Amino acid sequence: MLRLTASIDVDIALLGCDVAATKAHARALVKAGLLEPAALEALDGALDDLAREWREGTLRPHPEDEDVHSLVERELTTRLGDVGSRIHAGRSRNDLVAADLRLWCRDAAVDLCRVTGSLIASLADLAEEHTDTLMPGYTHLQRAQPVSLGFHLAAHGFAVARDMTRLQAARAAADVSVLGAGALATSTLGLDPKVAATELGCAGVFANAIDAVSDRDFAVDLTYACTTLAVHLSRLAEEIVLWTSAEFGFASLPDEWSTGSSMMPQKRNPDLAELVRGRSAGAIGDLTSLLTLLKALPLAYGRDLQEDKEVLFRSVARAGDAALAMTRLMAALDFDTARLGEAAAGGGGWATDVAEALVMRGVPFRHAHRAAGRLVAGLEELGIELAEASQELLADCHPLLDLDDRGLADPKSALERRSMPGGPAPSSVREQAQTLKRLVQGMVRELP
Ligand code: ARG
Repeated sequence: MLRLTASIDVDIALLGCDVAATKAHARALVKAGLLEPAALEALDGALDDLAREWREGTLRPHPEDEDVHSLVERELTTRLGDVGSRIHAGRSRNDLVAADLRLWCRDAAVDLCRVTGSLIASLADLAEEHTDTLMPGYTHLQRAQPVSLGFHLAAHGFAVARDMTRLQAARAAADVSVLGAGALATSTLGLDPKVAATELGCAGVFANAIDAVSDRDFAVDLTYACTTLAVHLSRLAEEIVLWTSAEFGFASLPDEWSTGSSMMPQKRNPDLAELVRGRSAGAIGDLTSLLTLLKALPLAYGRDLQEDKEVLFRSVARAGDAALAMTRLMAALDFDTARLGEAAAGGGGWATDVAEALVMRGVPFRHAHRAAGRLVAGLEELGIELAEASQELLADCHPLLDLDDRGLADPKSALERRSMPGGPAPSSVREQAQTLKRLVQGMVRELP
């Protein structure tokens, strides 16, 4: 029985939140005339002691402490006697655990916002640094059109910026006080839920007590934000794995950020990136676990809900670790800009530009596309590059093509031609890096 019901090993992490929620509830009891105002000082002192002892590692749970809430109440009763025995009036562990968890999520979302903010800022810095570093852009992992490394990294930055927005929204979802909901139907004691809400600095108060004790949407929201973050980071991690391979050779990792092989002395493995990639599997699993936990659970509280914490805590820790690891990894990557540039020049990445040049001269796109395709095939057959194409070949593909169009093969000019907002031209990428920095600064400024 105890092995299944006890959750203290996991929910002891809520101790700081339980202390805050208990202080807030005590204020509501005082306001309702159910606790002497003078008792608050001793109560706050004892609660602060508990929090400190826990931080210092001297607080020892008793075998009968089923969860963090039982522990705090027992300790208060032991230390304060009568005041401790009065504290649970008008509250239940059902509203208490939901209140604690909301406070925990609120803090965790803020911490994650800061970590993702640094990652976005460092991606924006790298994007700025590499607005002129050519690289091939890919679709289907086939070379498609030349872009810049800065453009590519800014793309990852925008994905993480959306995660940061989701984290902010998850914080707002958690920022509601549910103290006063009781077990499911409030209480007869005349408690004012706004007192605890104000004390906790919550933006809102529960609207329905049954919903207040059953709702774990805020935890799902935070886990979802962690999951999209983990999935985004897995995509960035995968690029690092690819880029640091001999086959790509776009970047290398210094020794401190790679691992050796127990057998092959020459190996320099991108284990950290692989682990970020691999751990995203657990992130998806955790989101699924949490949603499955809630699925078809009848109102109001069900003990199943106790299982939410392990999943949520793990999800948040994993996402934070991954974001930090990627921040450090990105800063440590040593890009081979010459090799990136060579790769950007090859592979017929100019073919669309040839077609678009014809469109600008009035040729319908479908005809222009065919002409450019013929040019690619003709050059391939002769085994030469566009820069070496003859006037005959060009005119044969389309009468409106001439020797000047050989300049379209230059990837740098391909970038310059794409200076629209959101495009890969250095000026556009500089703009994007600024946008990313503004986004982060704006979101960080709103954090408490
Ligand atoms: N430890 C429980 C949880 O984490 C809270 C206790 C509520 N238990 C109860 N029997 N009403 O959800």
